Amino acid sequence: MDERFEALRFDGESLILLDQRVLPTEETYHHCHTTSEVEFAIRDMVVRGAPAIGAAAAYGVYFAAKEAKNEKEFNNLCTFLGNARPTAVNLEWAIRRMQGIYQANKTKSDLLELLLKEAHEIRAEDIATNKAMSKIGNAVVPHGATILTHCNTGALATAGWGTALGVIKEAFYSNKEIFVYADETRPRFQGARLTAWELMEAKIPSKLIADSTAATLIRDGKIDLVILGGDRVAANGDVANKLGTFMLSVICKAYGVPFYSVVPVSTIDFDLASGDLIPIEERDGSEITHVGETQVAPTGMDVYNPAFDVTPHQNITGIITERGIIYPPFKENIARLKRGEHL
Ligand code: MRU
Repeated sequence: MDERFEALRFDGESLILLDQRVLPTEETYHHCHTTSEVEFAIRDMVVRGAPAIGAAAAYGVYFAAKEAKNEKEFNNLCTFLGNARPTAVNLEWAIRRMQGIYQANKTKSDLLELLLKEAHEIRAEDIATNKAMSKIGNAVVPHGATILTHCNTGALATAGWGTALGVIKEAFYSNKEIFVYADETRPRFQGARLTAWELMEAKIPSKLIADSTAATLIRDGKIDLVILGGDRVAANGDVANKLGTFMLSVICKAYGVPFYSVVPVSTIDFDLASGDLIPIEERDGSEITHVGETQVAPTGMDVYNPAFDVTPHQNITGIITERGIIYPPFKENIARLKRGEHL
């Protein structure tokens, strides 16, 4: 069953983003007409989630080609766009793919049409990929499972349907009796604001928990499996994902609870040897010192606010992709995926 909302769409002139900064209390749309408006929307998290920022950036590259007077200006605008957020590899992946279309067609009169077509394709492929991953991932969800998830990985984090939340929805719509615990996901509350909203929209039985409740639920045998997304997977299977993922993986390993990451192949950085090399975004300290407009820490307190952490592959049961589930040994199996072999 598809959602009644879209995280992003293009109306012929502007990229229209459901403003994720103000959900769930306001459902408003943010219009972008220029590269710098798309860059701002990604950086300020109007649109967020690895696949969604990739799809948004593809339209940003289309705007760049419209704005640039020459190839150098075009490439500079692409670099500017690619620096909006460093961790999710989908951003550079989508920009590189669009730059390839530019290179192959830069002398043609229909260059802009071709770029727009490619952006539409990136968006449509993402939805199809998510649906394929959901079907594959559903196989690891037992009947009657209680699932814990972290951050937001649903239709809002993608061009549509979702990655980890897509698997959860697939399990629910295929009549499995599941129950979901959603971590609130400090400090930006993607779990409380966005995942809770999507779970309620889909009518999936669920409860919202403070992040720190997860350890007790896992120790007490209340969680059958953890399913979450990923922003960049290294060639050895290490996964960068929303801050808090690593901690969850350690607890799951200690108590023998299966731990799955769900990512499209576009989230795998085949050229990056290990998770230590993944650039981790640091965000403004006000995300920790304030909750909304309310100050919760003393004025002047220094803050360390990484937005992501890296889960070592040793803590991961499997990585679910549209081309199958990657199990250990991750390095070998990711290399097979790169060579185009079946898993
Ligand atoms: O900072 P965000 O909200 O962009 O972080 C999002 C996540 O960490 C998601 O888990 C990840 O992008 C996968 S979403 C399908």
